Amino acid sequence: MAKLEWVRRVSSVRTILVTGGSSGIGRATAIRFARDGDTVVIADLNESGGKAVIEEIESDGGKAIFGKVDVADDESVEDLIDFVERESGAPAVLVNCAGLLQNPSRLVDLDMAEHDRIWAVNYRGTYLCCRAFAPAMVKAGGGSIINISSTSAVRVFPLLAYSPAKAAIDQLTAILAADLGPDGVRVNAVLPGYVRSEQMQLRIDAGLRDASKMKAQSALGRMVEPGEIADGIHFLCSDAARAITGTVMPIDAGYLASSSYQLHAGWTSED
Ligand SMILES: NC(=O)c1ccc[n+]([C@@H]2O[C@H](COP(=O)([O-])OP(=O)(O)OC[C@H]3O[C@@H](n4cnc5c(N)ncnc54)[C@H](O)[C@@H]3O)[C@@H](O)[C@H]2O)c1
Repeated sequence: MAKLEWVRRVSSVRTILVTGGSSGIGRATAIRFARDGDTVVIADLNESGGKAVIEEIESDGGKAIFGKVDVADDESVEDLIDFVERESGAPAVLVNCAGLLQNPSRLVDLDMAEHDRIWAVNYRGTYLCCRAFAPAMVKAGGGSIINISSTSAVRVFPLLAYSPAKAAIDQLTAILAADLGPDGVRVNAVLPGYVRSEQMQLRIDAGLRDASKMKAQSALGRMVEPGEIADGIHFLCSDAARAITGTVMPIDAGYLASSSYQLHAGWTSED
């Protein structure tokens, strides 16, 4: 426990820890905070991707460092605590963006090793990182945690591990908001719709997802860009959101509002 007994550095420059920051939504989030002058720690399994994001941030005059982590691995997360403490001081913001997407499957077809890995990374990894970094935020007198949910947490998709894990993240977010609120730590989640991240683009290119269908199901008739999720995360961590905790905020181009409406009406946003 001694390693958690940090005192946050007295500085106006905040440390922002973004897991999964090497790609997609996490990458956009790292860039968004760095643009404001915050020091960003990109914590990811993908070292080359993370270093490329750091170069991008540095070439724009920002500050970022890379810490390799597997959020599903207790020891690796323990090492990350040491690394962040040593390199930048305790984070004021933790964004739990590391995650795996899943392809649709039927009950008996989903390999249990894949099932378990998705839970280990998406749910347990989120839990583990909250558990690892919240005590330092409490010690510092406050902070902000953002978890990443999904429309599949509240709609029914053939994603037998991914969807239940995201629904569990929504519940965890509310529980942690209640748990940590008295110590000044706010905990919220964003609920992205169809986001054109690298992973999503790979699936579109491989013919596993249909971009035109995803666009048509949303009220705004388009997909969401990673930077738009980053803007929502940035808002929830800002002083403007100081009374907001325990929420799950959709950023989905109106997918939740529109998809069942369209099914019932028999037309789409593109008709
Ligand atoms: N793209 C979408 O449409 C969409 C929609 C809803 C929710 N999400 C969620 O957003 C988050 C980011 O997804 P994305 O689309 O940007 O995907 P992405 O693959 O572009 O980014 C995920 C990042 O997490 C990292 N990662 C994976 N496993 C890890 C581990 N065990 N330890 C550390 N890092 C690990 C990857 O290396 C990658 O850099 C995920 O939680 C995903 O479920 C995405």
